[in-house]
Amino acid sequence: MPNWLKDAVFYEIYPQSFYDTNGDGIGDFNGIIEKLDYIKSLGCNALWINPCFDSLFHDAGYDVRDYKKVAPRYGTNSDLYRLFGEAHRKGIHVLLDLVPGHTSEEHPWFLESQKAEKNEYSNRYIWTNAAFQPAKGFLYIGGETERDGVYVLNFFKCQPALNYGFLNPEEDWQLSMDHPDCIATREAMKDVMRFWLDHGCDGFRVDMAASLVKNDDEKKSGTSAVWKNVREMLDAEYPEAAMISEWNEPEMAINQGGFHMDFYLNWSGNGYSSLLRDYERGEDHSFFKKDGSGDIRRFLDEYLPRYEATRENGYYCLITCNHDTKRPKYNLDDSELKIAYAFLFTMPGVPFLYYGDEIGMRYLELKTKEGGYGRTGSRTPMQWTDGKNAGFSTCPADALYLPVDTADGAPSVAAQEVDGNSLLSTVKDLLRLRHEEEDLQADGDFEVVYAESGKLPFVYRRGSLLLALNPSTERVSAPVGEADAGKKVLYAIGTGEVKEQEIILAPQSFVVLK
Ligand code: GLC
Ligand code: CA
Repeated sequence: MPNWLKDAVFYEIYPQSFYDTNGDGIGDFNGIIEKLDYIKSLGCNALWINPCFDSLFHDAGYDVRDYKKVAPRYGTNSDLYRLFGEAHRKGIHVLLDLVPGHTSEEHPWFLESQKAEKNEYSNRYIWTNAAFQPAKGFLYIGGETERDGVYVLNFFKCQPALNYGFLNPEEDWQLSMDHPDCIATREAMKDVMRFWLDHGCDGFRVDMAASLVKNDDEKKSGTSAVWKNVREMLDAEYPEAAMISEWNEPEMAINQGGFHMDFYLNWSGNGYSSLLRDYERGEDHSFFKKDGSGDIRRFLDEYLPRYEATRENGYYCLITCNHDTKRPKYNLDDSELKIAYAFLFTMPGVPFLYYGDEIGMRYLELKTKEGGYGRTGSRTPMQWTDGKNAGFSTCPADALYLPVDTADGAPSVAAQEVDGNSLLSTVKDLLRLRHEEEDLQADGDFEVVYAESGKLPFVYRRGSLLLALNPSTERVSAPVGEADAGKKVLYAIGTGEVKEQEIILAPQSFVVLK
């Protein structure tokens, strides 16, 4: 386990929209380099950059055409190497996005694979034996290639699935996981990883990590075995490299697959969604809404067993949002977000902050861009200032990759940096506190003290610290143990105090007691 993860706080950057330094309307590596001090000032000491590789951008770069070459829109490979170096000098680790399940349909491997003549890449993707033989149970494309067969997709039409084999092959076109050509796919992906790690990258966020082996069983034992094998390579060759999976099954990803971290994703109606995004199911009873109609048990009942089962082996990670998800500002105002972030940043595991969430950027209703569809509105340019294009780019407004939020009162870094009460200032205070108190970091013990269904506050312990939060507009209280009676307030949003054996919280308050 890389030691640096213990106190890591990640910042996710959608590179298209972070900062444009050459006025072409799209973010670039130099822009990230220029903003490293800003990232550091937040208290973030690690980055995850969405795919920045050569691509046709039919899925915002998740359709990779060349794994070892960056997309010219962001700069050159040398610029990215420089970014690694500059980040390291400031104590910031950098994860790239590894897309192991599929490539672009224009990747040279696929162009070879679709040829009629057999070659080294014929089995790099999953093909049936004839154009009129369907790949039953899979998404597939037929009739587009000179090869007589249909090929399996992993996601969009532009993303043919790479062939890691089938756990239990059922038809003769399905190769087993240990077929040399399936092993070759896995080795090719290790080669991609080594390439970037050798150039200074610190690990990977792994896209659709659960998708590799087909016809996998319920426990995903085939796909986990592939990842375990990758982890062995990393432990031997790159012990400081970190891996986080887009999987949301930590017992599979961490315990079986050997990932260091797994994301707790917003699957409709699940525990994480009940905190911030309950509207996905209709009436919004998100726990952090100030009407206080939420229920922390919906989160805890799902989270706790997973946390307990995996805490010895890795981290189940909480996020503010990501590039696939509606921003939390969609349904929560800044006062609600402060309490939500206080929670997210004081929980075990490694927290992830999505760019712009620190100032409460809005989700915009926009037409799709580069395969974004409903996700597009969470991918708009970072709002740095109140000036032209929100300080993101000097280009004409109609040349921007995506429009900036021009609404009255749209938040900006510049405005919030000089306001001690802003969401941005709260984020900085919270992350500073996390870095100062080891108990609040990834490994610190977590224990629920008071969490009653439909009641408030929520009271929990991190190591020797007692924390309590009240998202609602009512004053609330809960019993605490004798040993907590003498604890002093270390940090508070709003007000909270312990009186005799009761913790009392004012409306919309969060308190850390030591
Ligand atoms: C993951 C990515 C998403 C992408 C998809 C296909 O879910 O986060 O953005 O579209 O995989 O690669
Ligand atoms: Ca640019």
